[in-house]
Amino acid sequence: METITIHTSKAYEILLEEGLLATAAEHISKVLPPVEDGRAANSAPRKCCVVCDKTVCQLYGQKPHPLLTGLLEAGYTVHVYVFNPGEKSKSLRTAEDLCGFLSENHFGRNDFIIALGGGVCGDLAGFAASIYMRGIPYIQIPTTLLAMADSSVGGKTGVNTDAGKNMLGTFWQPSLVIADPKALETLNKTELLNGLAEVIKAGFIGDTSIFDVISEGLPAAIAKAIQVKKEIVEEDEREGGSRRLLNFGHTIGHAIEKCSNYTIPHGFAVMTGMYLTALAADERGWSRTPMAGFIKSAIDAFAYPVYTDCTAADLAAAAKDDKKHEADRITIIYPDQPGTCAMKELPISDLEVFIASGLTKAQGR
Ligand code: NAD
Ligand code: GLY
Repeated sequence: METITIHTSKAYEILLEEGLLATAAEHISKVLPPVEDGRAANSAPRKCCVVCDKTVCQLYGQKPHPLLTGLLEAGYTVHVYVFNPGEKSKSLRTAEDLCGFLSENHFGRNDFIIALGGGVCGDLAGFAASIYMRGIPYIQIPTTLLAMADSSVGGKTGVNTDAGKNMLGTFWQPSLVIADPKALETLNKTELLNGLAEVIKAGFIGDTSIFDVISEGLPAAIAKAIQVKKEIVEEDEREGGSRRLLNFGHTIGHAIEKCSNYTIPHGFAVMTGMYLTALAADERGWSRTPMAGFIKSAIDAFAYPVYTDCTAADLAAAAKDDKKHEADRITIIYPDQPGTCAMKELPISDLEVFIASGLTKAQGR
């Protein structure tokens, strides 16, 4: 089993191995024992709330799956909260409903949440964990490639509002992350590609050897992507500086998601965002090595649908509502050379022109 420890304000382990879903309860018991430390042996067992969307619930979140039976056998009182799949569920309304469910079931500050699912589930359940009774523990059990390689690590939680993606959120580190790549066997090709975009992003930010290991198998690529993220979040847990590099492709990506009314998945939007940013940065001569060609190779290698119907004006308007800018300037993360990204401040009034130059080049005009 690969164990990666993340040393943020709260240290926690990421366990990565095929088959871990079946033995998850054993690992959870070591971190949050079924009967709290210091309680009499005959006192009430600790409660856990498995949060998952309907699809994941049917696959992994109900009996007789060994994840559920293992938790019950370990002695936990188990509740399951199920929500509708999709980005639309990453909302304050669902978070409030989940918190209500915890209250109705008398969850206390030492009980905990298990976020079983993709990035939507992890962000939503982590957010609820961070606000319920001013914060209860949670465990991430990612089941998508995107969540294993990226979103389950680093403690960013959040929900979307009408103003944009992740407009309400917290930094709330999990107590443990359990990643079982066997769960990826039930993921369709579109969702695999969606998640691979964040793996590719990690390659452009910090480690080009990721591109070589993708063909060897996903567990190795996931481990490398986590390593890139580990180094960054340990240096800058709350995104005061270098953590912003993890947002490569996200300024335009989030705008694409929002303008498409969340019909374009996060990973595809980020992939498009990385490419458009690279094209615009190359045109301005920002990058030490022109990088758009490298990104286009990755797009072509995996046949990504790099596409947006939106105009530069729409995307710039959506990006201006995003939280990645201060007053009249926006930070653009751009690829500087293979395996390295850099940041530049752009006057917000130049953003539309910046995006337009990427779009024009992408469309071969
Ligand atoms: P998702 O959670 O909606 O999962 C995608 C789909 O896959 C869903 O329909 C789900 O039901 C299904 N699914 C999940 N696991 C499955 C499995 N094993 N087999 C079959 N189907 C399965 O989306 P996602 O792409 O995992 O995550 C996207 C979200 O992650 C976005 O909201 C994005 O903003 C967020 N994100 C957060 C961070 C962070 O650091 N917190 C980083 C990157 C992305
Ligand atoms: N996905 C960006 C971050 O975790 O900071």
